[in-house]
Amino acid sequence: MSRPVIILYATASGNTEELATEAASRLTGLGLDSSVRSVEEVSPGDLAQESLVLMFASTWGEGLPPPDAEEFTEQLAEETLDLGGLRFAVFALGSSAYAEFCGYGILLDALLAARGAERILPCAKSDVKFRRAFEEWWQEVSPRLVALAEADGPDDE
Ligand SMILES: Cc1cc2nc3c(=O)[nH]c(=O)nc-3n(C[C@H](O)[C@H](O)[C@H](O)COP(=O)(O)O)c2cc1C
Repeated sequence: MSRPVIILYATASGNTEELATEAASRLTGLGLDSSVRSVEEVSPGDLAQESLVLMFASTWGEGLPPPDAEEFTEQLAEETLDLGGLRFAVFALGSSAYAEFCGYGILLDALLAARGAERILPCAKSDVKFRRAFEEWWQEVSPRLVALAEADGPDDE
């Protein structure tokens, strides 16, 4: 048994949800358990029980979270939250037509690190044609996830 990977997405028009679902299906193919949730359905405190998280986050307004992610982001900014047992990677979607390119994904990455979580990879930033960036990122992140999920598995405790 390996640790499950929690896959979260923050979206306004569905792109990050699509990638999150695809990531879950690819992890199944690699023999890892995962679950996909909108950040609207979880609170950052829930992540304290987890060990591996992938986050797909788009940016709206001018560098803002999608509306559904506002509460999650406010809670993640609370300094009392300790996510010291968590490893994470953020895949940020945005458009370079905006000054705050991928601003929300960058903020999310910084907040998770500020709460003590450890990056698996630096925050990935993708433009409107995000498929190619996703494929490149997947080549890097998936072998790391497999190694971490198996090394951290409950049978090893
Ligand atoms: C009204 C509007 C505002 C946006 N603002 C930003 C922004 O400030 N920075 C950025 O990088 N991308 C911005 N984007 C681009 C979106 O983040 C991008 O289209 C993304 O793929 C949407 O993903 P989603 O469908 O998961 O929400 C904006 C798009 C729209 C339509």
